[in-house]
Amino acid sequence: MTHASACGKIIMFGEHAVVYGRQAIAVPIPSYRTDVKIEDSEEFNLTSNRELSDKEKDRLTQMCSVLYARFKLVGNILLEINSDIPINTGMGSSAALSVATARAVSDHFKLGLGIEEINAAAFECEKIFHGTPSGIDNSVVCYEKPIYFMETPQAFDIKEKFTLVIANSGIRPSTKEVLAEIRFAYIKDTEKYSKLFDEIAAIVSQARKCMETGDIKSLGNLMTLNHDYLRMLGVSIPETDRIVNLALDAGALGAKVSGAGKGGNVIVLVTDKTKDKVLEALSSYKTIISEIR
Ligand code: MEV
Repeated sequence: MTHASACGKIIMFGEHAVVYGRQAIAVPIPSYRTDVKIEDSEEFNLTSNRELSDKEKDRLTQMCSVLYARFKLVGNILLEINSDIPINTGMGSSAALSVATARAVSDHFKLGLGIEEINAAAFECEKIFHGTPSGIDNSVVCYEKPIYFMETPQAFDIKEKFTLVIANSGIRPSTKEVLAEIRFAYIKDTEKYSKLFDEIAAIVSQARKCMETGDIKSLGNLMTLNHDYLRMLGVSIPETDRIVNLALDAGALGAKVSGAGKGGNVIVLVTDKTKDKVLEALSSYKTIISEIR
């Protein structure tokens, strides 16, 4: 039996624009994880600590088929999944599953894959889940470091740790559908969307500098600015705008939708002084507090 694990993630800046070649920043959330165990089996089988719909089972089977074809694997397996990463909220549940499974497959079949090969395999798996992903999710999960991504991942260091409150809107969008909607809108009005993506890209570059110099106040302002652009893209809904406004009114330094949007998570930048007030303002939502370093 082999065992592997991979972490959750949050997109700090640049979601959606990154799918169109612009830069984005993502950070790992190591305390939330997906564990995968693999053992030999008479026939292919899956188990999960969560109940799986037929569609999910189908996608997981397809994910395994991608790995079998890629590495010319022979013999059946039992794949056992155990995850505490919330699904369809923007915390990287599918990326963690893809990376953990690629790692476990590498060990089980003695493939000796390096980190780049694991990441490339996980990216192929991610396409099953998301259609046309950028590759940022599997990269940040695979490297488990803050990532600046522009077609390829670049790990970078954060000067001063900071705290995010991750608030779940309770609405679970399908990333695949949201990506398809944005692609449709982009094809219909490429000029408008390209301009929005360029504006977002400029925010991402500034945000990286703030993270590298420890300018947390400006980082918060940039998060809220990025959120405004996500609204213009049409991926924030009234519930996520509400969370952003509640958080800002309670003194947060910045807040934005994170990930595909149309629900999912809002990330909120707090200080030791504002954390409790923000948590109180968001008490009707499920929240996670994560220190980013
Ligand atoms: C999803 O976590 C981030 C998106 O930009 C999609 C992607 O980059 O693959 C919305």
